[in-house]
Amino acid sequence: MSETLLEVNGLSKSFDGVVAVDDVSFSLNSSETLGIVGESGSGKTTLARCVLRAIDPDAGTVRFHGKHGQYDLHNLSERELIPLRQEMQMVFQDPFSSLNPRMTVQEIMEEPLIIHGIGDRASRREAVLDILSRVQLEQDALTRYPHAFSGGQRQRIGIARALVLRPKLVVCDESVSALDVSVQAQIINLLEDLQDELGLTYLFVAHNLSVVHHICDRILVMYHGRVVEEGPVEEVFNNPQQDYTKLLLSAIPSPDPDVPLVPIDRANLNL
Ligand SMILES: Nc1ncnc2c1ncn2[C@@H]1O[C@H](COP(=O)(O)OP(=O)(O)OP(=O)(O)O)[C@@H](O)[C@H]1O
Ligand SMILES: [Mg+2]
Repeated sequence: MSETLLEVNGLSKSFDGVVAVDDVSFSLNSSETLGIVGESGSGKTTLARCVLRAIDPDAGTVRFHGKHGQYDLHNLSERELIPLRQEMQMVFQDPFSSLNPRMTVQEIMEEPLIIHGIGDRASRREAVLDILSRVQLEQDALTRYPHAFSGGQRQRIGIARALVLRPKLVVCDESVSALDVSVQAQIINLLEDLQDELGLTYLFVAHNLSVVHHICDRILVMYHGRVVEEGPVEEVFNNPQQDYTKLLLSAIPSPDPDVPLVPIDRANLNL
């Protein structure tokens, strides 16, 4: 029996009179992956940012079931929020702009631990090395700077930084969208492995429906800030109820979710 990790109720957010998120409710179970799909401007990022309390909504509640109790995130002071921030992390679309170019990978990965006052030098080093190997980067990566890595490797660094605090909830906002298809598959497979190893719960924002079909258990379809359809990913993909969902789905070829995404083997390509 899985337990609830997050309960979102009646969340709304407008910007200068433009409604970005309109009365959205959902819940998320521990170890589940919930996809949020919808066209550009439908409110996905705004919803994700409200959930993590990166911004304050105009209305609604976000209840997080943390290690030490349940909290309504928007009722907490910044100070009360700090320990909960460890349990909720974000992986961004563009690791290049979210990684400080003047910090080594070691510094980037250690920084969240220092900010949260976790461990001493030796134990932080251990935590960094552990996550580094989990995202399949070599130890010599630690002394290099972000510019010395490929896009896929940079996203591994971004994921490592998010996971070094051992969060429960990880919000991925278009985390593979900027990567080429072959690298996308590698990162998706890595996210799935990490979920099993570390018991992660994902809120997975994406406009690529093949990726969503592959990784998500359940999806929410957003249109103009509202949830127009919600359900287990198979049900929604095989039997969409709303015209908008049908329209979204008609734009992609039908992938088979039972077939793992296989990175393109470049050796077999006649390049
Ligand atoms: N900080 C902001 N100030 C003003 N308007 C904003 C702000 N953030 C988002 N919006 C508006 O809110 C609406 C929803 O934007 P949001 O970024 O949440 O959409 P999205 O679904 O994430 O789109 P995309 O797929 O392009 O990332 C849009 O109309 C956007 O212009
Ligand atoms: Mg967005």
